[in-house]
Amino acid sequence: MGKSFAVIGDPIDHSLSPNIHNAAFRELDLDSSYIAYRIPKGELEGGIEGLKKIKIDGFNITIPHKIEMMKYLDKIDEICNLIGAVNTVSNKDGILKGYNTDMDGFLEPFKKKELNIDGINALLIGAGGAARAIVAGFTKEKAKSITIANRTLEKATSLSKFAKTIGLNANAIEIKDIKDTISNYDVIVNATSVGLKNESSVIELKGINEKTIVYDIVYMPMNTDFIKKAKVEKATIIYGYEMLLGQAVKAFEIWHGIEAPYNAMKKAVLGGF
Ligand code: ATR
Repeated sequence: MGKSFAVIGDPIDHSLSPNIHNAAFRELDLDSSYIAYRIPKGELEGGIEGLKKIKIDGFNITIPHKIEMMKYLDKIDEICNLIGAVNTVSNKDGILKGYNTDMDGFLEPFKKKELNIDGINALLIGAGGAARAIVAGFTKEKAKSITIANRTLEKATSLSKFAKTIGLNANAIEIKDIKDTISNYDVIVNATSVGLKNESSVIELKGINEKTIVYDIVYMPMNTDFIKKAKVEKATIIYGYEMLLGQAVKAFEIWHGIEAPYNAMKKAVLGGF
């Protein structure tokens, strides 16, 4: 029998995950399907029951359920447990196991482009679920330090405590206090949702150079205002779609137990714009 998969979240209509996974199924001739399923905030429990009833084989989780979904898991993978947020679930006979492929997805473009994280000073803007996975990624690859800048200082402080607990030198500031410290960083990441609605970037990038890596996790539109400003400064760019692709490849491999067709999936993601 064919297998079925989904991505759950709200909003969900802009999601490129169905395009990416369905392209992989076509490429490998797998009898599987993948759909987007809108579950509004506050309706997660009922939504999960529905997915279990139709015997879904696996699903991805996006905004706003990545943290709340932890409650409904029967088993939790080690990295997922460490991060405290889940983006990939497998369902084996009603037993839900949670994984977090955002961390590896975030790191994937650095590996593909042979960009080093070891010893760098990072500026992370944002302190939500995605930011937690990124902190874990910087720690794993031995960054020297991380400054976490957030609109709400408490959340940055709490994420900075998490970073220190897992062994990364960290401090927390408010976004408005970044100002002219921008040139101190080797890698600058936007992990806020700002850009999705074509807003101006939360910070200015004057003072960086071509060695600075600027990474936006917002993937729609591809050229956010943040990315455009980084291009003006000739920085090294990593696009949000690269992380999206990286986490999708890992999720595919968890569910299907075979190597993901990377090129077909990349083509699907780029075709979605
Ligand atoms: P995700 O799972 O994608 O990380 P999230 O947990 O809802 O989503 O986190 C969203 C992040 O975007 C937070 O860091 C949030 O800042 P606050 O903690 O201050 O809410 C940030 N964010 C959202 N809208 C923002 C805005 N207009 N300006 C600055 N930061 C914003």
